[in-house]
Amino acid sequence: MGSKAEWWKGAVVYQIYPRSFRDTNGDGIGDLKGIEEKLDHVAGLGADAIWLSPFYPSPNKDFGYDVSDYCDVAPEMGTLADFDRLVKETHKRGMKLIVDQVLAHTSEQHQWFQESQLSADNAKSDWYVWADAKEDGTVPNNWLSAFGGPAWSWNPVRRQYYHHKFLKSQPKLNFHNEEVVDACMNVLRFWLDRGVDGFRLDVANAYLHDARLTDNPPLPMEKRTFMDWAHAPRLQQHIHDANMPENEWAMKRVRAVMEEYDERLAFGEFSERQEMLGLYAGGLERLHTGYTFHFLEDWSFEPPVFREYYEDLLAPLADLFPCVTFSNHDIVRPVTRWGGGQGDDALAKLALTILVALKGTVLMYQGEELGLPEVDLDRKDIKDPVGDLYFPWVKGRDGCRTPMPWESGAEGAGFTTGTPWLPIPDYHKVRAADVQAGDMNSVLAHARQIVALRKAHPALKFGDIRFLDTEGKVLAFTREAEGEKLLCVFNLGAEAARYALLDGAGETVFALGEVKREGEALSLGSRSGAILKA
Ligand code: NOJ
Ligand code: CA
Repeated sequence: MGSKAEWWKGAVVYQIYPRSFRDTNGDGIGDLKGIEEKLDHVAGLGADAIWLSPFYPSPNKDFGYDVSDYCDVAPEMGTLADFDRLVKETHKRGMKLIVDQVLAHTSEQHQWFQESQLSADNAKSDWYVWADAKEDGTVPNNWLSAFGGPAWSWNPVRRQYYHHKFLKSQPKLNFHNEEVVDACMNVLRFWLDRGVDGFRLDVANAYLHDARLTDNPPLPMEKRTFMDWAHAPRLQQHIHDANMPENEWAMKRVRAVMEEYDERLAFGEFSERQEMLGLYAGGLERLHTGYTFHFLEDWSFEPPVFREYYEDLLAPLADLFPCVTFSNHDIVRPVTRWGGGQGDDALAKLALTILVALKGTVLMYQGEELGLPEVDLDRKDIKDPVGDLYFPWVKGRDGCRTPMPWESGAEGAGFTTGTPWLPIPDYHKVRAADVQAGDMNSVLAHARQIVALRKAHPALKFGDIRFLDTEGKVLAFTREAEGEKLLCVFNLGAEAARYALLDGAGETVFALGEVKREGEALSLGSRSGAILKA
């Protein structure tokens, strides 16, 4: 399906968190050379593309998502020459390289902010979102930061507040200022000219804010869940600080830059109001695609959650080819979230199989191919500002950011010869890549097999998806493309289950766990599944 430019539709994109991938100089921090060293691991998985989380100069208050220079490489990560080599080596292996762009905000240390804060009439004074205090000195409006507290901080030089949707050290750029937009678009061109194949756009729903600074309304009582109560910012509807219809305009500006080049991809991270996805992505003018937190925040692993994503959110969006993702650097690892505690390989294999069987461009996070569980860190090891704020009630995001275990027997797990910036627990070391590589039954071997399966079947790669009625823990859907139709049936539960093959079924293309054909039914053991010709 599609043209060469649409290579990304149904592709498998492997996300690397550079700080935790591979350290080559013993400082305990991953670097670009380390990524280059491990490219064969990624290519061996069958990934079509790599998404690199930020590697730009940063004070690392938010570990790279606070950029102080958009057009350079952080010294601890390497140099621009290392980056250029990485592009070449990635391409040599037939993979694309996508980089993260954090354009909604900068670090407070970015030169733009340093200049902007100096006065209300300098050349960059309007590059950020500045506002006077209310008469009583309090913040300009009720907007709350995603990490808690007001989304405003006082600047003693300008004697004004500035807006930050995240940390106070991440001031929000003012996308109502055309110079800011131009500067950001030139950042994109800088990397496109270096040969990158596209971008993952951080909080792409938050480029534009309401210039009148209207208060956000409260979230209606009936929509307040446990999650909402655990995070005060979730008590308000973020419709004026972000997620505005006007944000579509910014998405179009990005896409226009992408169209200056061949075969590039821009996908966005869309948090908070996922119903805006269709306005921001899809078609030929907005971003190519994007992901929401639908699966990322799910702790239930219940079949209806899968159906809802496609039938409620995506079905009306005819021109959007979606992303599908269970894991990233912000989210408790899926094995743990879905009930596998400190490790459950059967669950890890099942989740991976469902991931590649679903419709979408797959975003897979480093370690997911090893079935890594979330790491439970001690207070003294916490680095993430979110954990710092709320430990032990909310432990932050370090538990999914610990370094990759490459070698089970090595002190630093083959990640580092020094002290890793976050600890690597024994229950990760036993799942190291070297152990799994030699084991036909490992999660890694399984991951390679099913990624290859997806590639061999157009129906899995980009076919339409249709859900079938099921009971209990059984999930069933068909995928169909280019005259091929497949039936995918999974038992998400730990108990055995049955699924009646009402419309019959052909040969089994793939089976996971204990699956038996009993006449016109499938008997499915715990955490099992099958893909059949339909
Ligand atoms: C989303 C990123 O994925 C997350 O890691 C970061 O903290 C925020 N955006 C702010 O940039
Ligand atoms: Ca290093």
